[in-house]
Amino acid sequence: MSLLLTKAAQVRTQTALLASQGRSLALVPTMGCLHRGHMALVEAAKAKAQVVALSIFVNPLQFGPKEDFGRYPRRLEEDFKACKEAGVDWVYAPPEEEVYPPGFQTQVNCERWSQLLCGRTRPLHFQGVATVVCKLFSLFRPRWALFGEKDFQQLCLVRAMSADLDLGVEVVGIPTLREEDGLALSSRNVLLSAAERTQALALSRALLGAQKRCLEGERRIPFLIEEAKAHLRQAGVRVDYVEVVEEATLQPAVRMETQSLRMLAAGFVGNTRLIDNILLSPGGQTGDAA
Ligand code: PAJ
Repeated sequence: MSLLLTKAAQVRTQTALLASQGRSLALVPTMGCLHRGHMALVEAAKAKAQVVALSIFVNPLQFGPKEDFGRYPRRLEEDFKACKEAGVDWVYAPPEEEVYPPGFQTQVNCERWSQLLCGRTRPLHFQGVATVVCKLFSLFRPRWALFGEKDFQQLCLVRAMSADLDLGVEVVGIPTLREEDGLALSSRNVLLSAAERTQALALSRALLGAQKRCLEGERRIPFLIEEAKAHLRQAGVRVDYVEVVEEATLQPAVRMETQSLRMLAAGFVGNTRLIDNILLSPGGQTGDAA
C-alpha cells in the first residue's frame, strides 16, 4: 500500500515510526511525470531499503525566470498510480507553500560545481537543486538517496553536498535508461513534437559516436568535442555545450589516458533544453544501460 503525504509533519510522523521499528529508508527525489528512468531508481531503492519514499515536487527555485517552470509536465494522479504499482511506500507531493513558506530565505550553494557545465547557462539552477534536496534529506533522513547518471552534474553535486554538510545520506548513482533508439528518457521528452523527437536523437548519437571513436583508439579530445558539436548542429540542435570532463573533479579533461572521462552535452531542440552524457572509457567499460 502506498501512502500519499503532502505535509512535512506527516513525513516526520512516518519517519519517527520507522526509526522506532529500526527499519531502513531510501529516498528517490523527483519532479514527477514519472517514466522508466525514475522507476529504475525505485527498483534500486527497493533492493537497498525496507521502506522506499519518492518525492514529487516541481521545484520553482531551480528554474530560471525564462525557463520552462510553467510548462513543465505535471501528472500527479498517474504518478501516484505508477508508484502504487511499483511498490513505493510513501509518495511525498507537497504544495509549494509547504516547501517554501512565506519568509523562506535559506539556500545551499555548492561553490565550485554549481557554476560549471549546465551552471554556465543556468546560474541559479544548482543552488535551487541543492536547496530542495538538502531540505528533503533533512526531512526524511534516509540512509540512501538514489539519483540518475542522466543528470551527472547534479549527481556529483548532491553527493558532495551530503558529505560537506554531514547529512549522512549515501548518494547512489544509477545508469541512464534510454529508449530503444538511444534517446535518454526524460520528463521533458513529452514536450517534443514528432520532428523534434527525431532531432533530439542527435544528442545520444553524438555521444555514442564519441564513445565508439574512443574505443577505436581516438585520443584527441578537442576533435571528439568538435565532431559531436557538428553532429548536433547538422541535426538542427542548438548546442549549449559539449565537454569532456574527469568524473572525479568535473574539470575539463586534458589527456585521454586519464581514467573515467565523461562527455556531457546540452542543447536546445526547439524551446526544450535536453542533456545527456556518456562514459568515454579507454578501458571499454561504459557503465551505461541500454
Ligand atoms: P527529475 O528530472 O524528475 O529526475 C529525478 C531523478 O530521476 C534524477 O535523479 C534523475 O537523474 C533521474 N533520471 C531522470 N531521467 C533518467 C533516466 N533516463 N535514467 C535514469 N535516471 C533518470 O532531477 C530532478 O528531477 C530534480 O532536479 C530533483 C533532483 C528532484 C530536485 O528537484
